[in-house]
Amino acid sequence: MGRPAPRRMLVAALSIAAALAAPGVAGAQNFAPGADTIGDPYFPTAGNGGYDVAHYDLTLDYSPRRERLEGVAAITATATQDLSRFSLDYSGPKVAGVSVDGAPAAHSHANGKLTVTPPAGIGAGAQFATVVDYAGKVRPTKGRLRAGWFPTRDGAFVAGEPRGAPTWFPCNDHPTDKATFGFHITVPAGRKAIANGVLVSQSRAAGRTTFVWREDDPMAPYLATATNGRFRLSESTVAGLPSYVAVDPREARASRRGLRKLPAILEHFQSLFGEYPFDSTGAIVDHAPFVGYALETQNIPVYDRAPDEVIIAHETAHQWFGDSVSVARWSDIWLNEGFATWAEWNWIERTGGPTTARALRDLLKIRAGDRRFWRPAPGDPGPKHMFDGTVYVRGAMTLEALRQQLGADVFIAILRRWVAEHRYGTATTEDFIALAESESGRELDEFFRVWLFDPAKPKSW
Ligand code: TRP
Ligand code: ZN
Repeated sequence: MGRPAPRRMLVAALSIAAALAAPGVAGAQNFAPGADTIGDPYFPTAGNGGYDVAHYDLTLDYSPRRERLEGVAAITATATQDLSRFSLDYSGPKVAGVSVDGAPAAHSHANGKLTVTPPAGIGAGAQFATVVDYAGKVRPTKGRLRAGWFPTRDGAFVAGEPRGAPTWFPCNDHPTDKATFGFHITVPAGRKAIANGVLVSQSRAAGRTTFVWREDDPMAPYLATATNGRFRLSESTVAGLPSYVAVDPREARASRRGLRKLPAILEHFQSLFGEYPFDSTGAIVDHAPFVGYALETQNIPVYDRAPDEVIIAHETAHQWFGDSVSVARWSDIWLNEGFATWAEWNWIERTGGPTTARALRDLLKIRAGDRRFWRPAPGDPGPKHMFDGTVYVRGAMTLEALRQQLGADVFIAILRRWVAEHRYGTATTEDFIALAESESGRELDEFFRVWLFDPAKPKSW
């Protein structure tokens, strides 16, 4: 840093004078509540402003019999403004107490927000620690995008996309605020608890077992899991990484064949997309068929039943597309699902099935006259339709059409740059179009407009 410019020195001198004239008071007027939304049009109440979370340390004790979760969430964050108070997304069990930097803080809980007012304001740039104590019955969200903590007979299936994370811990529930995580999960002896990252320890005391997991790479809250119950947990090494495979005995036989393919899938996608972004791999196979979907929880996807190798390929591809590179806004969900579906097709081709080119050709032919197949357009499907077939299949068709338009080498170069340039971050559809144009040297606005935003079959295809 050089010498401050005269103008900056003047400003600095004036603000020092102001502070001296009215210590505390002058500054206090700048302290304002953090925003209670991040402004994502699909989920207008999701996320919060005024701070940036660095780390969640979650201590959980779960009783499957009572469906009761006791939690202590310690959240380390940095203020991005002078904060008088701030909010967290939270729709879980009753809050017993909140502290900020060790001092009890006033709090209120309503409509999915926990609002915290610390005894003194938090200055912009300051790091602060919030601790939330909670306990009670735990439930997933309701409606067509059901997610969160799903009690099962022996434990819980935990999958937060898109708005389920706040059912089990207070958080800044948006992919644009990633953080590292620590988990200390206690379950009845004989049960297991599986979370993201690496298994640090497991210890038994008084008829209960505590599992400690640690995720050192940035993670969006919706990708966290703490799935628990009766599992066979095995640890091995895959592509030089620890691999954790947890299988509910009821799904053991049906999942064996698919799970055997995980190492080959991981190695293939590394050769295609670039280095795997995280510190471990694996799978959690639960018996929770009432959930109806699997989720690409970071490192270790969670399956509601025995997965076949195509679903394993899908969730594994999400580690690059969705988990490492996440959507900056939920309307761009095709960046997750279209890419993971194209990766499925690629895995099928790789293992001797129909080519990705064939998949596109067949769909274009079979679905040509099926007007409903083509809508809603995948580029902005609406929150109720974010997991519709069109987002997956038309999303994948968009990528395959792009591959055919630009050639395989340019296409793969685009995917590799995408994951390298946005690693551990977030990006938008416009970012993808700009990257595709820069790598190919072509103008692609019209191509992407018809494929992503026209609610009908692209005419020239
Ligand atoms: N992202 C998941 C997958 O593709 C699917 C998913 C997550 C989902 N949450 C959902 C589907 C809620 C329907 C409703 O594997
Ligand atoms: Zn998916």
